[in-house]
Order: sequence, then structure tokens, then C-alpha cells
Amino acid sequence: MRQLETASQGSTATRINTGTRRLAVNAAFLKDIKDDNQDLKALLDQILPITRHPQTATNHWPELITLLGDLRDQLALHFSLEEAYGYFDDAIVSAPQLSITAEVLRGEHAGLFAEARDLADLVTEICSDRPELVNDFLHRFEGFRRAFEIHEESELKLILDSLDDDLGVCD
Ligand SMILES: [Fe+2]
Repeated sequence: MRQLETASQGSTATRINTGTRRLAVNAAFLKDIKDDNQDLKALLDQILPITRHPQTATNHWPELITLLGDLRDQLALHFSLEEAYGYFDDAIVSAPQLSITAEVLRGEHAGLFAEARDLADLVTEICSDRPELVNDFLHRFEGFRRAFEIHEESELKLILDSLDDDLGVCD
């Protein structure tokens, strides 16, 4: 039976007893992850409307330069938190059938970050009065956005599959 309890002796850790295994999560770390997810969502909420149409992007190019730099930096934090956070390792230890998926997803971080970094560089290099370059940039950004969205959805599915595995949920 799943139960959630705060660790004793003043520790900031939260323990989730799943019966077969334990996840020990530092409360401060959970706050970092929550803040990161909120910051990342806020950034994407600002970027996406600007990148939907070339003319809108052109009109907001200086803002886009700032936002893409912020996105690159936020993703560096996002990926480092995910890799430091235990759910990947825990999935690998407790559910070997999920380990391949976990490794594949972790392996995607470097490529996704490299693309975010390159897009941040590109947006500063492109002169916004060159429409063909603006279009190229927007298509490339959309490709990145879709890849990142799929990656995040796959991570969520991995976590849910891992929990289902713990609880003995059948399809
Ligand atoms: Fe990830």
C-alpha cells in the first residue's frame, strides 16, 4: 500500500513507501523542480505566440533573442535537475523493463540542449529583415518544440509506468 510520510529527526526528506521500494526525495530539491517547471512553462508561454507567424516574430525579434537565451539557460537547469533527481535511477533499479526507455530519454538531453543552444545562437545571428531566414528559424524552432514536447510526455509516461509497475496495475 502506498503511503507518504515525512522522514523523522528533522530531515527535509520525504519518503514514499511503495511496499517494494522507497523513494527518498529532498524537499528543497522538489521545490527546485517545481520552480523550474513553472519557469519553463512561463518561458514557453511567452515564446510560442511570438513564433507562430513570421511577421509576429519579426516584430518581436529583440524579445525573441532574450527569450531564446533564457530558454537555453532554463533547459540547462531543467535537464540537470532531471538527471540528478532519482526517478531515472529508481526506474532502472526497480523496474528493469523500463531501464532502456529511461536510458534513451536521458540520452536525449544532450541533443535537445544542443539544439536549444544553437537556436539561441541563431536568433542572435539572423537579421530579422531577412524573411527567408526568419522562416527557416521558425521551422527549426517548431521542430525543437515538438521534440521537447514528445520527450517530456515520454518521461511522464515512464514515471506513470513505473508507478503502475509498483502497484501491480494491469493493462
Ligand atoms: Fe528530460
